Amino acid sequence: MDQGGQMATNNSSGALLELRGVSKHFGPVQSLTDVNMSAPSGMVTALVGDNGAGKSTLVKCIAGIHSPDDGGHIFFDGKEVSMKSPKDAASLGIETVYQDLALCDNLDIVQNMFLGREKRRGLFLDEDAMENAAKETLASLSVTTIRSIRQPVASLSGGQRQAVAVAKAVMWNAKLVIMDEPTAALGVAQTKMVLGLVRTLADRGLGVIIISHNMNDVFKVADRIAVLRLGKMVAEDRADKFDRQIIVDLMTTGVSTRARSEDALSGAEGGAH
Ligand SMILES: Nc1ncnc2c1ncn2[C@@H]1O[C@H](COP(=O)(O)OP(=O)(O)O)[C@@H](O)[C@H]1O
Ligand SMILES: [Mg+2]
Repeated sequence: MDQGGQMATNNSSGALLELRGVSKHFGPVQSLTDVNMSAPSGMVTALVGDNGAGKSTLVKCIAGIHSPDDGGHIFFDGKEVSMKSPKDAASLGIETVYQDLALCDNLDIVQNMFLGREKRRGLFLDEDAMENAAKETLASLSVTTIRSIRQPVASLSGGQRQAVAVAKAVMWNAKLVIMDEPTAALGVAQTKMVLGLVRTLADRGLGVIIISHNMNDVFKVADRIAVLRLGKMVAEDRADKFDRQIIVDLMTTGVSTRARSEDALSGAEGGAH
């Protein structure tokens, strides 16, 4: 966003991430068609849609796992970017937190957070520096339920694993954190913790994209909602422009003529689209 005082932005919205006309096909399967979407800094953008709508494909295009088809544009931090690998995305500041893939079970928390990027002092690993950095990052995110940062990740709960993956992203200066179904396997207390973490990231000024099937989670945490249906973006707006029923309509039919339930109660006019 801040380009060191330059007016170098050539994307229209000024959002941290902006997709314009992004398509992706796998052989004859058209998974994404001409998708526009943005994710501003300091906000949680929820990406919703039925199974097969293209949500995971879209985030994989943002995370450098898939190359979009020719003709689309991805802008990040004001510049057009083209990512060939997750490493390219990470070096721009885009980190993706996957449910289970993100961490190595047999390694401890510190080892996981520094995997492949270990701090050294001379020939040796600088364990103290790594421990301190890991501890500080977790504390700064108010992650308080982890007993020891030297415990193997296998011993953590699902929510704690998410927290470690998020802390890792933050420690490595992510500007945009993408989470694909982070609460799908979590209980009530763990879900609350992870959603709190999502909020903290946005409050710190990061952009967050969260994929979720759970409308409770979406309405609890999202500032903005984007709805995909059959590979097309059918709606993208502030969260308070939607309610559950409108989202279900959009996900299943692509349109909603309904008034928001609160608007209907207060007698106001207008639907989502
Ligand atoms: N690697 C792939 N090869 C072929 N088809 C794929 C691949 N990845 C996704 N698809 C197809 O793209 C469509 C969207 O899938 P996906 O992005 O996983 O949807 P969602 O995450 O919304 O459930 C589906 O029809 C799926 O079968
Ligand atoms: Mg998916």
